[in-house]
Amino acid sequence: MANVPLRNGGPAARIAVIPGDGIGKEVTPEAVKVLKAVAAPTKRPCEFVEFDWSADKYLREGVTLPAGAVEMLRDEFDAILFGALGDPRVPSNQHAAEILLGLRFQLDLYVNIRPVELLHDRLTPLRDRTEKDIRLIVFRENTEGLYVGVGGFFKKGTPDEIAVQEDVNSRKGVERIIRYAFEYARQNNRKRVCMSDKSNAMTFAHDLWQRVFQEVRREYPEIECRHLYIDTLAMEIVRDPRQFDIIVTCNLFGDIISDLGAQLAGGLGLAPSGNIHPGRTSLFEPVHGSAPNIAGKGIANPFGSVLASAMMLEFLGWKPEADALRAAVRSAVRENYVTPDLGGDKRTAEVGDWLAQKAAQQVIHRS
Ligand code: NAD
Ligand code: IPM
Ligand code: MN
Repeated sequence: MANVPLRNGGPAARIAVIPGDGIGKEVTPEAVKVLKAVAAPTKRPCEFVEFDWSADKYLREGVTLPAGAVEMLRDEFDAILFGALGDPRVPSNQHAAEILLGLRFQLDLYVNIRPVELLHDRLTPLRDRTEKDIRLIVFRENTEGLYVGVGGFFKKGTPDEIAVQEDVNSRKGVERIIRYAFEYARQNNRKRVCMSDKSNAMTFAHDLWQRVFQEVRREYPEIECRHLYIDTLAMEIVRDPRQFDIIVTCNLFGDIISDLGAQLAGGLGLAPSGNIHPGRTSLFEPVHGSAPNIAGKGIANPFGSVLASAMMLEFLGWKPEADALRAAVRSAVRENYVTPDLGGDKRTAEVGDWLAQKAAQQVIHRS
């Protein structure tokens, strides 16, 4: 699994927990259970504070991200463990935009790191692919692009309606995510970086991506560089995922390609992500959403949230504990102690209990 850079390496941590909606409320408590299980034997002081920011709260009180929340998280917490947001009762998705995108933007979490790692050969839908073939990381720009909400309607609701959504790309924003991808490659002994855009059609925004990529790559002569248009990347990743090591791309393309990648490694149920600003309070979450189609049934896969927690521990400098979480998930996959999305018959909480026990044993063994 990908290494995540440290925040402070300190011995204590304060973690804000935002379960959110749907299965976010089911998988997040399991991840906290596993985190507590690994923190206890090594006596790591670790405090969890839960926040109920969600569709329920929005519908009840009209509140999305409360006033002062960003400053509080920034100043009083080391990391945020996030579940998912999205609820059919809020078709505008306003609460999710204000809470999740609000945190990404206002905490300036410009790196969205989304590792795609096949944990067992049987999990991939690709024929004849094995664990060693699928081991890539998507670095998604996380603070700009089509997500910034610049745009508007003209003549809304009339036959002449116009809807505009601007794609915002700053020199600083493009450069820092590309540079981060290269720096990550250099520090983690990854050999190849592929930048993906749509510069053949998006001739202004992605011309900037092209120019910055050409410039930054010169500083990393030891790293093999490649460019692919995003449509070709989507095809190539399925045809032969072995080609890819590190992929860096814009906000929207990173969103799409990371779900595609997740499925190659067994599905959304086990894909983790980190929303990071190096050295500052950062946010960790599974790649999946609130999954209204299975919410409330107790069958959601908690692996994505637990693996996101492992990324969080690594960010906090707790490497043995992070490794223990990952080893526990690997064992559960190997022993087929899994939820229905992976072909098993276990329930979310059963898997959480199993992982907690296994991870605690691992961490005692390792430390
Ligand atoms: P989704 O990720 O919620 O679900 C897609 C499919 O994957 C569904 O069939 C679901 O059952 C399955 N799935 C996802 N996670 C799973 C898990 N842990 N275990 C087993 N199966 C799992 O995507 P969607 O249905 O497009 O979106 C539902 C809502 O979630 C929407 O409101 C969307 O905006 C929101 N969303 C939020 C986030 C987030 O908070 N980061 C991410 C993606 C989608
Ligand atoms: C994700 C989600 C979000 C995104 C949505 C909920 C706004 O799909 O985290 O991947 O597009 O970033
Ligand atoms: Mn997504």
